Amino acid sequence: MSNSINTPPYKYAQNSDTTIDNALLSRYTALKAKVIERKEQFASLMKFVETETAYLTSPASTKFHLSRKHGLLEHSINVAETMLKIKETLAPEISDESCVVTALLHDLGKAGMPGHPQYIENHQSEKYRTPYFWNKELVYLSVPVRSLYIIGPRFPLTEEEAQAIIYHDGQYVEDNRSVATHEEPLTLLLQYADTWSGFVIEK
Ligand SMILES: [Fe+2]
Ligand SMILES: [Fe+2]
Repeated sequence: MSNSINTPPYKYAQNSDTTIDNALLSRYTALKAKVIERKEQFASLMKFVETETAYLTSPASTKFHLSRKHGLLEHSINVAETMLKIKETLAPEISDESCVVTALLHDLGKAGMPGHPQYIENHQSEKYRTPYFWNKELVYLSVPVRSLYIIGPRFPLTEEEAQAIIYHDGQYVEDNRSVATHEEPLTLLLQYADTWSGFVIEK
């Protein structure tokens, strides 16, 4: 397999003290192996994401779901696995590949930019009461827009995949009003898998 992470224990370059749990790593590796048609481009994208950004170590939130190291990775895996289950029942004609690409990377923006993570670990948690801070030094981009900004130049997303990533928060976000009634099936699957993961699996 050409994916850049396949041998546990893997150590993230920018956080060499952090090893990913073997169970999480094997789930992640199995998901990445489902990307077949664009295997080379995906491997290249993921190598960038895994070695240049904080994707592997970032939390999923400052204080809500999975606000801990590897939380973003765990959330992304939960969303991908849930999305594949729903897809199998409702829309088997949609490829596993599109589900994996969009689910694993929908929240990539939460990793921030190379050298500039979106979440900063709070070492004064008693005072501030949140495990992480939101890094305000980054130029403002919403999470989905930053995800697309990072992925776009490095990977040939389909229009449906781009829509799913951009609008994955659905109508919880006012900015997404414009997509109402225009959602592609892939977008609806990602929205539901994301919500189910955040509100049920990771509660
Ligand atoms: Fe999100
Ligand atoms: Fe999410």
